[in-house]
Amino acid sequence: MQTVLQEIQVDEPLYQLFPGMTKQEIVNRALLIRKEAMEKESPHRCVEGLFFLKETLYKNSFNSEAFPKDKLPTLRIFEVGSCFGVALRKLVLDGASRDNIFGVDVSDTFVRLGYQFFDDKASFGDRIRVLNVLADNFFDVVHSWAGPEPFDVVIANLVFHCLPDHNDVLAERAYKLLKPGGVLIGQTAAHANDMNEQFVFGISPRKAVLHSESSFNNLLKSHGFQTVKVNLNDHPMEEEDIQWMSRHFAFDKNEASGLSLMSFIARK
Ligand SMILES: C[S@@+](CC[C@H](N)C(=O)[O-])C[C@H]1O[C@@H](n2cnc3c(N)ncnc32)[C@H](O)[C@@H]1O
Repeated sequence: MQTVLQEIQVDEPLYQLFPGMTKQEIVNRALLIRKEAMEKESPHRCVEGLFFLKETLYKNSFNSEAFPKDKLPTLRIFEVGSCFGVALRKLVLDGASRDNIFGVDVSDTFVRLGYQFFDDKASFGDRIRVLNVLADNFFDVVHSWAGPEPFDVVIANLVFHCLPDHNDVLAERAYKLLKPGGVLIGQTAAHANDMNEQFVFGISPRKAVLHSESSFNNLLKSHGFQTVKVNLNDHPMEEEDIQWMSRHFAFDKNEASGLSLMSFIARK
Protein backbone atom coordinates (compact mmCIF):
# COMPACT_ATOMS: atom_id res chain seq x y z
CA MET A 1 0.00 0.00 0.00
CA GLN A 2 2.94 2.29 0.73
CA THR A 3 3.98 1.93 -2.94
CA VAL A 4 0.52 2.96 -4.11
CA LEU A 5 0.66 6.04 -1.88
CA GLN A 6 4.04 7.06 -3.28
CA GLU A 7 3.11 6.53 -6.92
CA ILE A 8 -0.40 7.92 -7.12
CA GLN A 9 -0.80 11.65 -6.80
CA VAL A 10 -3.91 13.45 -5.69
CA ASP A 11 -3.95 17.10 -6.72
CA GLU A 12 -3.96 19.36 -3.67
CA PRO A 13 -7.14 21.31 -4.65
CA LEU A 14 -9.11 18.07 -4.96
CA TYR A 15 -8.73 17.12 -1.28
CA GLN A 16 -11.52 19.58 -0.47
CA LEU A 17 -13.92 17.38 -2.43
CA PHE A 18 -13.33 14.62 0.12
CA PRO A 19 -13.81 16.30 3.48
CA GLY A 20 -12.19 14.41 6.34
CA MET A 21 -10.61 11.75 4.12
CA THR A 22 -6.92 10.91 4.06
CA LYS A 23 -4.95 10.52 0.86
CA GLN A 24 -4.93 6.77 1.42
CA GLU A 25 -8.73 6.67 1.67
CA ILE A 26 -9.16 8.80 -1.46
CA VAL A 27 -6.71 6.67 -3.43
CA ASN A 28 -8.34 3.44 -2.28
CA ARG A 29 -11.75 4.71 -3.33
CA ALA A 30 -10.33 5.90 -6.69
CA LEU A 31 -8.84 2.47 -7.35
CA LEU A 32 -12.19 0.77 -6.62
CA ILE A 33 -14.03 3.16 -8.95
CA ARG A 34 -11.43 2.66 -11.66
CA LYS A 35 -11.65 -1.14 -11.35
CA GLU A 36 -15.40 -1.18 -11.80
CA ALA A 37 -15.30 1.41 -14.60
CA MET A 38 -12.70 -0.65 -16.49
CA GLU A 39 -14.70 -3.85 -16.04
CA LYS A 40 -17.99 -2.34 -17.22
CA GLU A 41 -17.05 0.27 -19.82
CA SER A 42 -14.89 0.56 -22.90
CA PRO A 43 -11.39 1.75 -22.01
CA HIS A 44 -10.68 5.44 -21.47
CA ARG A 45 -7.18 6.71 -20.76
CA CYS A 46 -8.51 9.35 -18.36
CA VAL A 47 -10.03 6.58 -16.23
CA GLU A 48 -7.19 4.08 -16.46
CA GLY A 49 -4.55 6.79 -15.98
CA LEU A 50 -6.43 8.21 -12.94
CA PHE A 51 -6.59 11.64 -14.61
CA PHE A 52 -9.55 12.32 -12.34
CA LEU A 53 -7.14 12.62 -9.39
CA LYS A 54 -4.58 14.84 -11.01
CA GLU A 55 -5.78 16.61 -14.11
CA THR A 56 -8.96 18.48 -14.64
CA LEU A 57 -10.43 21.66 -15.99
CA TYR A 58 -8.79 24.05 -13.55
CA LYS A 59 -5.41 23.25 -15.17
CA ASN A 60 -6.64 24.44 -18.57
CA SER A 61 -4.81 27.68 -19.40
CA PHE A 62 -8.11 29.26 -20.53
CA ASN A 63 -9.88 28.39 -17.28
CA SER A 64 -9.94 31.93 -15.87
CA GLU A 65 -11.20 33.33 -19.18
CA ALA A 66 -14.15 30.91 -19.19
CA PHE A 67 -14.88 31.19 -15.47
CA PRO A 68 -14.06 34.72 -14.22
CA LYS A 69 -14.21 34.54 -10.42
CA ASP A 70 -16.63 37.45 -10.03
CA LYS A 71 -19.07 35.97 -12.57
CA LEU A 72 -18.82 32.33 -11.47
CA PRO A 73 -21.87 32.37 -9.14
CA THR A 74 -24.19 33.38 -12.00
CA LEU A 75 -22.71 31.42 -14.92
CA ARG A 76 -24.92 28.78 -16.49
CA ILE A 77 -22.62 25.87 -17.25
CA PHE A 78 -23.25 22.73 -19.32
CA GLU A 79 -20.77 19.85 -19.48
CA VAL A 80 -20.76 17.12 -22.12
CA GLY A 81 -18.99 13.88 -21.13
CA SER A 82 -18.77 14.61 -17.38
CA CYS A 83 -17.61 11.07 -16.52
CA PHE A 84 -17.21 10.99 -12.69
CA GLY A 85 -18.01 14.70 -12.47
CA VAL A 86 -14.79 16.11 -11.00
CA ALA A 87 -14.87 19.30 -13.08
CA LEU A 88 -18.40 20.34 -12.12
CA ARG A 89 -17.91 19.52 -8.44
CA LYS A 90 -14.71 21.56 -8.39
CA LEU A 91 -16.55 24.50 -10.02
CA VAL A 92 -19.20 24.40 -7.28
CA LEU A 93 -16.42 24.34 -4.68
CA ASP A 94 -14.94 27.43 -6.37
CA GLY A 95 -18.23 29.35 -6.25
CA ALA A 96 -20.46 28.21 -9.12
CA SER A 97 -24.09 27.78 -8.14
CA ARG A 98 -25.15 24.15 -7.92
CA ASP A 99 -28.44 25.11 -9.56
CA ASN A 100 -26.66 26.52 -12.62
CA ILE A 101 -24.62 23.46 -13.54
CA PHE A 102 -25.75 20.64 -15.78
CA GLY A 103 -23.62 17.65 -16.77
CA VAL A 104 -24.34 14.70 -19.02
CA ASP A 105 -22.56 11.49 -19.85
CA VAL A 106 -23.57 8.60 -22.08
CA SER A 107 -22.34 6.07 -19.49
CA ASP A 108 -24.67 5.29 -16.60
CA THR A 109 -21.75 3.43 -15.01
CA PHE A 110 -19.54 6.55 -14.94
CA VAL A 111 -22.34 8.75 -13.61
CA ARG A 112 -23.21 6.26 -10.86
CA LEU A 113 -19.55 5.72 -9.92
CA GLY A 114 -19.10 9.50 -9.69
CA TYR A 115 -21.77 9.69 -6.98
CA GLN A 116 -20.16 6.71 -5.25
CA PHE A 117 -16.68 8.28 -5.47
CA PHE A 118 -17.77 11.56 -3.88
CA ASP A 119 -20.51 10.02 -1.74
CA ASP A 120 -22.68 13.07 -2.42
CA LYS A 121 -25.91 11.90 -4.03
CA ALA A 122 -27.89 13.70 -1.31
CA SER A 123 -26.02 17.00 -1.51
CA PHE A 124 -25.09 17.13 -5.23
CA GLY A 125 -28.45 15.79 -6.37
CA ASP A 126 -28.92 14.97 -10.02
CA ARG A 127 -26.65 17.63 -11.50
CA ILE A 128 -25.11 14.95 -13.72
CA ARG A 129 -27.46 12.78 -15.75
CA VAL A 130 -27.18 10.00 -18.27
CA LEU A 131 -27.66 11.40 -21.77
CA ASN A 132 -26.06 10.87 -25.16
CA VAL A 133 -25.07 14.20 -26.70
CA LEU A 134 -25.75 12.66 -30.12
CA ALA A 135 -29.31 11.56 -29.26
CA ASP A 136 -32.15 12.84 -31.48
CA ASN A 137 -34.01 14.11 -28.41
CA PHE A 138 -30.91 15.75 -26.85
CA PHE A 139 -32.25 19.31 -26.93
CA ASP A 140 -35.73 18.27 -25.76
CA VAL A 141 -34.19 16.60 -22.71
CA VAL A 142 -31.87 19.52 -21.99
CA HIS A 143 -34.67 22.08 -22.31
CA SER A 144 -37.05 20.18 -20.07
CA TRP A 145 -34.29 19.89 -17.45
CA ALA A 146 -32.40 23.19 -17.74
CA GLY A 147 -35.01 25.42 -19.36
CA PRO A 148 -34.72 27.18 -22.71
CA GLU A 149 -32.15 29.78 -21.60
CA PRO A 150 -28.79 29.25 -23.34
CA PHE A 151 -25.52 28.65 -21.46
CA ASP A 152 -22.55 30.90 -20.71
CA VAL A 153 -20.08 28.01 -20.85
CA VAL A 154 -20.08 24.57 -22.44
CA ILE A 155 -17.35 22.18 -21.31
CA ALA A 156 -16.21 19.32 -23.55
CA ASN A 157 -13.09 17.99 -21.87
CA LEU A 158 -11.42 15.04 -23.64
CA VAL A 159 -14.62 14.29 -25.55
CA PHE A 160 -14.01 15.40 -29.16
CA HIS A 161 -11.25 12.80 -29.63
CA CYS A 162 -13.64 10.02 -28.46
CA LEU A 163 -16.20 10.85 -31.16
CA PRO A 164 -14.21 10.87 -34.42
CA ASP A 165 -17.27 10.38 -36.62
CA HIS A 166 -19.34 12.95 -34.79
CA ASN A 167 -17.11 15.98 -34.23
CA ASP A 168 -19.43 18.07 -36.43
CA VAL A 169 -22.50 17.13 -34.39
CA LEU A 170 -20.69 17.88 -31.12
CA ALA A 171 -19.44 21.26 -32.37
CA GLU A 172 -22.86 22.17 -33.74
CA ARG A 173 -24.65 21.18 -30.53
CA ALA A 174 -22.15 23.01 -28.32
CA TYR A 175 -22.69 26.12 -30.45
CA LYS A 176 -26.46 25.82 -30.18
CA LEU A 177 -26.29 25.42 -26.39
CA LEU A 178 -24.37 28.68 -25.97
CA LYS A 179 -25.60 32.24 -25.74
CA PRO A 180 -23.90 34.81 -28.02
CA GLY A 181 -20.53 35.59 -26.43
CA GLY A 182 -20.57 32.27 -24.54
CA VAL A 183 -17.56 29.94 -24.65
CA LEU A 184 -16.77 26.32 -25.33
CA ILE A 185 -13.79 25.10 -23.28
CA GLY A 186 -11.96 21.79 -22.98
CA GLN A 187 -9.10 19.67 -24.19
CA THR A 188 -8.72 17.26 -27.06
CA ALA A 189 -5.93 15.01 -28.32
CA ALA A 190 -3.78 16.87 -30.83
CA HIS A 191 -0.61 16.85 -32.87
CA ALA A 192 1.87 19.71 -32.98
CA ASN A 193 2.22 19.29 -36.79
CA ASP A 194 -0.13 21.89 -38.12
CA MET A 195 -1.89 19.57 -40.57
CA ASN A 196 -5.14 20.88 -42.02
CA GLU A 197 -6.85 17.54 -41.88
CA GLN A 198 -7.73 15.69 -38.70
CA PHE A 199 -6.15 12.24 -38.27
CA VAL A 200 -8.45 9.32 -37.39
CA PHE A 201 -6.83 6.17 -36.00
CA GLY A 202 -7.90 2.86 -34.46
CA ILE A 203 -10.14 0.08 -35.65
CA SER A 204 -13.92 0.44 -35.62
CA PRO A 205 -15.72 0.69 -33.21
CA ARG A 206 -12.72 1.91 -31.16
CA LYS A 207 -11.52 4.88 -33.14
CA ALA A 208 -10.22 8.26 -32.06
CA VAL A 209 -9.23 11.47 -33.73
CA LEU A 210 -6.17 13.68 -33.43
CA HIS A 211 -6.59 17.32 -34.33
CA SER A 212 -4.08 20.03 -34.99
CA GLU A 213 -4.48 23.70 -34.25
CA SER A 214 -5.69 24.26 -37.85
CA SER A 215 -8.06 21.34 -38.15
CA PHE A 216 -9.71 22.16 -34.83
CA ASN A 217 -9.93 25.83 -35.69
CA ASN A 218 -11.56 24.90 -39.03
CA LEU A 219 -14.01 22.54 -37.33
CA LEU A 220 -15.25 25.08 -34.81
CA LYS A 221 -15.30 28.05 -37.20
CA SER A 222 -17.33 26.03 -39.71
CA HIS A 223 -20.03 25.77 -37.03
CA GLY A 224 -20.11 29.49 -36.36
CA PHE A 225 -17.60 30.06 -33.53
CA GLN A 226 -16.06 33.51 -33.91
CA THR A 227 -12.72 32.96 -32.23
CA VAL A 228 -10.78 29.82 -31.35
CA LYS A 229 -7.66 29.77 -29.18
CA VAL A 230 -5.59 26.68 -28.39
CA ASN A 231 -2.62 25.77 -26.22
CA LEU A 232 -0.63 22.65 -27.01
CA ASN A 233 1.57 22.89 -23.92
CA ASP A 234 -0.84 22.39 -21.02
CA HIS A 235 -0.70 18.59 -21.01
CA PRO A 236 1.96 16.88 -23.17
CA MET A 237 1.27 13.18 -23.61
CA GLU A 238 3.58 10.93 -21.66
CA GLU A 239 5.18 7.64 -22.70
CA GLU A 240 2.52 5.73 -20.74
CA ASP A 241 -0.29 7.55 -22.62
CA ILE A 242 1.28 6.64 -25.98
CA GLN A 243 1.70 3.00 -24.92
CA TRP A 244 -1.94 2.93 -23.89
CA MET A 245 -2.96 4.34 -27.29
CA SER A 246 -0.95 1.74 -29.14
CA ARG A 247 -2.45 -1.04 -26.99
CA HIS A 248 -6.06 0.03 -27.41
CA PHE A 249 -6.04 1.68 -30.83
CA ALA A 250 -3.12 0.02 -32.62
CA PHE A 251 -1.63 3.51 -32.66
CA ASP A 252 1.71 3.65 -34.49
CA LYS A 253 4.25 4.87 -31.91
CA ASN A 254 6.28 6.43 -34.75
CA GLU A 255 3.48 8.96 -35.13
CA ALA A 256 3.74 9.94 -31.48
CA SER A 257 6.11 12.87 -31.31
CA GLY A 258 4.47 16.19 -30.50
CA LEU A 259 1.25 14.73 -29.12
CA SER A 260 -0.61 16.50 -26.36
CA LEU A 261 -4.03 17.09 -24.89
CA MET A 262 -4.59 20.47 -26.49
CA SER A 263 -6.51 23.04 -24.45
CA PHE A 264 -9.00 25.18 -26.33
CA ILE A 265 -11.49 27.96 -25.86
CA ALA A 266 -13.90 29.07 -28.58
CA ARG A 267 -16.29 32.01 -28.39
CA LYS A 268 -19.70 32.18 -30.05
C1 LIG B 1 -12.09 10.60 -22.10
S1 LIG B 1 -13.50 10.74 -21.10
C2 LIG B 1 -13.34 12.39 -20.43
C3 LIG B 1 -14.06 12.54 -19.14
C4 LIG B 1 -13.98 13.90 -18.45
N1 LIG B 1 -14.62 14.93 -19.24
C5 LIG B 1 -12.56 14.26 -18.13
O1 LIG B 1 -12.11 15.31 -18.57
O2 LIG B 1 -11.88 13.50 -17.44
C6 LIG B 1 -14.80 10.96 -22.28
C7 LIG B 1 -16.17 10.96 -21.65
O3 LIG B 1 -17.15 11.27 -22.64
C8 LIG B 1 -18.25 10.41 -22.48
N2 LIG B 1 -18.93 10.31 -23.78
C9 LIG B 1 -18.49 9.67 -24.88
N3 LIG B 1 -19.41 9.75 -25.85
C10 LIG B 1 -20.44 10.47 -25.36
C11 LIG B 1 -21.70 10.86 -25.88
N4 LIG B 1 -22.05 10.52 -27.11
N5 LIG B 1 -22.54 11.57 -25.10
C12 LIG B 1 -22.18 11.90 -23.82
N6 LIG B 1 -20.99 11.54 -23.27
C13 LIG B 1 -20.14 10.83 -24.02
C14 LIG B 1 -17.61 9.10 -22.03
O4 LIG B 1 -18.55 8.22 -21.42
C15 LIG B 1 -16.54 9.60 -21.07
O5 LIG B 1 -17.04 9.78 -19.77
